[in-house]
Amino acid sequence: LNSSVTGQMRAAVIDAFGPPDSLHLANLPIPEPGSTEVLVQTHFAGVNPIDTKTRGGHGVPVPRFPAVLGWDLSGVVVRVGAGITRLREGDAVFGMLRFPEIAGAYAEYVLAPEEHIARKPEGVDHREAAAAPMVALTAWQALFENAHLKPDQLVLVHGASGGVGHVAVQLARWKGAQVIGTASVRNHEFVSQLGAQHVVDYATQPLDTAATNVDVVIDTRGGDDFLRLLQLLRPGGTIVSLVGRHTEGERAAHGKGIHPAFIMVRPDNAALAEIGRVLSEGALQITIERVFPLNDAGAAHSLLETGHVRGRLVLEI
Ligand SMILES: NC(=O)c1ccc[n+]([C@@H]2O[C@H](COP(=O)([O-])OP(=O)(O)OC[C@H]3O[C@@H](n4cnc5c(N)ncnc54)[C@H](OP(=O)(O)O)[C@@H]3O)[C@@H](O)[C@H]2O)c1
Repeated sequence: LNSSVTGQMRAAVIDAFGPPDSLHLANLPIPEPGSTEVLVQTHFAGVNPIDTKTRGGHGVPVPRFPAVLGWDLSGVVVRVGAGITRLREGDAVFGMLRFPEIAGAYAEYVLAPEEHIARKPEGVDHREAAAAPMVALTAWQALFENAHLKPDQLVLVHGASGGVGHVAVQLARWKGAQVIGTASVRNHEFVSQLGAQHVVDYATQPLDTAATNVDVVIDTRGGDDFLRLLQLLRPGGTIVSLVGRHTEGERAAHGKGIHPAFIMVRPDNAALAEIGRVLSEGALQITIERVFPLNDAGAAHSLLETGHVRGRLVLEI
């Protein structure tokens, strides 16, 4: 059917590290799938903070330019490699590809390793599916694989209105945990509606007084906040940081009998399929603050870099 997909495609690329307006459209050859890859025609691509960091030269390594950024996508399989058995042309799929290596989701066609994608969940549109993978896998791995969250435990999500935060609140509630979120006042109602029992204004309330006896903290900020968040945990509790190691904080955590984890999200299509079921059931919804066309990828990066996007941004390809 689609084995004739050849020729050129449009992609948003950078030719060097730089500001948001370094992103521009270019024509690139449509790639050929290897035996364990499929070629996906992208409908939407998610925009994550690691995209903006990488564009600026302080994210993941970029082996060559021009480079196509983006890890999250939703789309339709248009070609399959010789060794593919699970997927067929025409299947709608979503996933976070190859992270932390370059994947190239800001393009009309993208090569996806079969084990990094799952079927797009029933009843979830491409837009929401494209926004989900990185934030949902991060929250899933943090809450369930690192912190081993149990029903009725108390979780505090620092940065509860952001991409990862708003998913962490919902997944913790889905598991049956109690949730406290931190957010700016303008997002308090939003975070409550996600299921948080209590929302703390991080701008006016000292973070180290936000709660007591917390079982699990998800820290999306790091730095000095990590040290303050340690004060909230019970001995034996777990703090999961998304933003890199904190040597002093790690030592302080061990001194209090707290488990510190510094995680890096990884592709996992089994977890993604489970996340897909939670999305289908409606227990998890991804908020999309804005959709940008591919040729406005730079504007999406500028908005994300304000640090106050609610939920996620996506590019329409
Ligand atoms: N380790 C990993 O594998 C991994 C995976 C995913 C993400 N990350 C990293 O984790 C961080 C969060 O990712 P994300 O996608 O959730 O980012 P994001 O969507 O850009 O986060 C934006 C949110 O941060 C909140 N915020 C801003 N300043 C804050 C402050 N001082 N205190 C508390 N909250 C504040 C904002 O809330 P208000 O607007 O309400 O102020 C906003 O909703 C990023 O640095 C990202 O690169 C790491």
